[in-house]
Amino acid sequence: MEIINLESVDSTNKYAKEHINEISDKTVISADVQTSGRGRFDRKWNYQGMGNIYASIILKPSNKFETVYSSLTQYLCVILSKTFEEYGVQPKIKWPNDILINNKKISGILAEAVIEKNELKGIVLGVGINLNSTKEELEKINQPATSLNNEIGMTIDKENFINSLLKRFYLKYNDFIQNGFALIKEDYEKRANFLGKEITIKVFDKEINGIAKEITIDGALKIVDKNNKEQTLYMGDIL
Ligand code: BTN
Repeated sequence: MEIINLESVDSTNKYAKEHINEISDKTVISADVQTSGRGRFDRKWNYQGMGNIYASIILKPSNKFETVYSSLTQYLCVILSKTFEEYGVQPKIKWPNDILINNKKISGILAEAVIEKNELKGIVLGVGINLNSTKEELEKINQPATSLNNEIGMTIDKENFINSLLKRFYLKYNDFIQNGFALIKEDYEKRANFLGKEITIKVFDKEINGIAKEITIDGALKIVDKNNKEQTLYMGDIL
């Protein structure tokens, strides 16, 4: 595993996608400054200073896309939660892969696959983690947000955090590729903050309302609406 540190880049995900053929499997691209970070549904990911993590993990598990790869974001989400827990905080997972501490978002994950002529060139797993932000920076974000330094009242060593995260990630990575979401289902559910509650999920411009019943064996969200109709969702955003 190699970590390539860039001083400044528009987006580590964009960089990784553009250089996918030159980057080897399991490499991590990290940037001190990220000027044009992107989130899910093409939202903006704010730059909040060098003390935070802007990184992309490049994975090349095979030349063909397998369904299990879609849950890699949830695998990273569980690994990230466990890393946060080492700092004495209690992260909660908001399906599919946001992490909240005290109901405020602390990290986000964006996965992108590069496919050329039906061949999978690689998966780019981008992650933004608020480690050391100021309250002023956090207030500029258009949803409640927090950072680890604000939660525990001390500066976080960025290198320690990322090393611990990556060590955990690669420890069970092969196992995850073999077994899929089933491997982490229990760890994921334990931290899920939405199960059993009435929620509204936005899927593009449609809103679906119901009780979050369970997470399926492949990481999808099963909800039951007021007419007792079940729906299984593979993407969306809990509002
Ligand atoms: C989200 O919450 O919508 C996902 C945010 C992902 C942000 C990270 S920061 C590093 C990488 N590069 C990007 O442009 N985005 C991801």
